Amino acid sequence: MSIAYNFCPMIIAPSLLAGDFSRLAAEVVRVHRAKADWLHLDIMDGHFVPNISFGPAVVKAIRPLTRMEFDVHLMCSRPEILFEPFANAGADHLTVHVELGDHVKDLMWKIKSLGLKVGLAINPPTPITSVQPFLPQIDILLIMTVNPGFGGQSFIPETLPKIQQAAAWRQQTGLGFRIEVDGGINNTTAADCARAGADTFVAGTSLFSQRQFGRAVEKMRRAVEQSSKGQAASSKSIAI
Ligand code: DX5
Ligand code: ZN
Repeated sequence: MSIAYNFCPMIIAPSLLAGDFSRLAAEVVRVHRAKADWLHLDIMDGHFVPNISFGPAVVKAIRPLTRMEFDVHLMCSRPEILFEPFANAGADHLTVHVELGDHVKDLMWKIKSLGLKVGLAINPPTPITSVQPFLPQIDILLIMTVNPGFGGQSFIPETLPKIQQAAAWRQQTGLGFRIEVDGGINNTTAADCARAGADTFVAGTSLFSQRQFGRAVEKMRRAVEQSSKGQAASSKSIAI
């Protein structure tokens, strides 16, 4: 079974990838003051995705700036070599991709053995059935709503049925994993995803482009709450 943690109906997780890298500390403080829930950290290795972002040293440097949970998304071909460095840097969750194939189960156990929450991510072209066998072992299912590698892309609406399917499985099984969406999330697409069953929203460009970050987070919360399924999700007790 997945590890149950405090019930929280909605999580807003700004992605630091969209922040100003020349003033990273100030950007983290901006997210913290905006009362966002998690900080999403996109780690790209230049191999699994055609881009490179930042690594454990950067995460360690920003760790003292906030108590927000650090949600580390590993877009990496060999994520296992980074588990301990990120655990030591202060990550709270480590998410690996189901596209890595056979050794996904081992990867998940390694994350668990480090005492961190386990995330499993799935890219837009990958069928949702590929994550089904792993659902009892995970804390977070990260459904990519763009092809990973770059911030600022447009939401892919064809991913919505995958969210619906994941939500249906969660309801049928009574499992407690969160359903997180990532890529092209703004107030409109967040509401669409909430209606489909998502409860955790990663947003980069749409939040960091706003001068008033706190208001932007607040508006996104309201957009999710106002979506009908979002309201249902708030009253449903997901045990995480
Ligand atoms: C995409 C990353 C996302 C990205 C989201 O590869 O996994 O987390 O930063 O950024 P926006 O919200 O700009 O699409
Ligand atoms: Zn991400």
